[in-house]
Amino acid sequence: MIQYNQKESRVVNFNNKKVSCFYSSSAKIDKKTVQSFGEEWQKFSSFSEAEIKNIGDEYFDIVDESILNSNSIVLDMGCGSGRWSKYLAPNVKFIEAIDPSDAIFSATKLLSNVNNIRTTQASSDNIPFNDETFDFVFSLGVLHHIPETQTALIDTVKKVKKGGYLLIYLYYNLDNRGVLYKALFKLSSVIRFIVAALPKWAKQIVCDFIAITVYMPLILVSRSVQKMIPNKSTYQKLPLAYYVGKSFNIIRNDALDRFGTPLEQRFSKKKIKEMMEKAGLRDINFSNNSPYWHAIGKRTDLVK
Ligand SMILES: C[S@@+](CC[C@H](N)C(=O)[O-])C[C@H]1O[C@@H](n2cnc3c(N)ncnc32)[C@H](O)[C@@H]1O
Repeated sequence: MIQYNQKESRVVNFNNKKVSCFYSSSAKIDKKTVQSFGEEWQKFSSFSEAEIKNIGDEYFDIVDESILNSNSIVLDMGCGSGRWSKYLAPNVKFIEAIDPSDAIFSATKLLSNVNNIRTTQASSDNIPFNDETFDFVFSLGVLHHIPETQTALIDTVKKVKKGGYLLIYLYYNLDNRGVLYKALFKLSSVIRFIVAALPKWAKQIVCDFIAITVYMPLILVSRSVQKMIPNKSTYQKLPLAYYVGKSFNIIRNDALDRFGTPLEQRFSKKKIKEMMEKAGLRDINFSNNSPYWHAIGKRTDLVK
C-alpha cells in the first residue's frame, strides 16, 4: 500500500472496506459536475466482463509491456465506476483509484473482490500522494470536466515518476470530422446545456429518451452501412458509428454522460499535444483509433 501524504478528512466504512476521503474546497473543481457524476456512476455501476475487456482494449491500444507490467504501481485519476482499474488489475502490481464524487463508492463495490486496488475519494487538485509516486497514471474522460484542464494535467503529471507514463483521453473538438458532424455537435451542445440543468430524475429520463430516439436510429444506420460496405474507414465516419456492437447499457450511460454533464470542454489533437508537453511529457503518441483523442506521454523533466 502506498502512504497518503496527508491526513484524511474522514474514513467511510463501505462494503467491508475503509475508504479514505480527502476533501477539497478549491475552486479548481466543478462541484455540480462532480455531483452529477456521483449520480451517473451510482446508476451505471455494473458492466459485463466482455464489455470492460472490449472497450478497455480500445483505450489501452497504445500501451505495451515496456510501459505497463506486473511491477507497475498505477494511479487511476478520476476512476468513476472503477471499470478501467478492473480491466488493468490482473496485469499490474497495484492500483490507486481516486475520484472526488460518490462514484468512489460504486467503484469500491465493483472492485470489492480485487485485492491489488485501493479506492480513495480525492480530486486532481489534492491528490494525496507524494510527487513522483507512480510508474503509470491514467485519466480517461476526466480532465475535460475540470475547469482548468491544463492545471489539472500538470497536477496529475507531478505524481508520475520520471521515466513513467501518463495515458489520457480527452474529448476531441471534431478536428478530424466534416461539416455535418460539427453541425450536429453544435445542436447537441445546446441540448446538453438545457438537459444538464434538469433535476436528477428528469435528466435521467430525458437522456434515456435521447438514447432511444437519437442514438439507436443513428447506430442502426451505421450498422446497415457497415453491412453493405464493411470497410471500416467508410462506416466509421458516420455519427455514433463508435457504438455499433456496444450494449444498450453503454449507450444509455454515454448518453447521460454526454447530455447530463454540466461542464465539458473539447480539444484538438494539436492542443492536447501542447498541453501534454507543457506538463512535462515527451515521446507523445496518439492512437489513430477512437475514442478520440487518447494519447500517452513519458515524463521526463519536472515542471517549472
Ligand atoms: C466521464 S467520468 C470517467 C470515469 C472513468 N475514468 C471512466 O472512463 O469510466 C469522469 C470522472 O471524472 C471525475 N472528476 C470530475 N472532476 C474531477 C477532478 N477534479 N479530479 C478527479 N476526478 C474528477 C468525475 O467524478 C467522474 O467520475
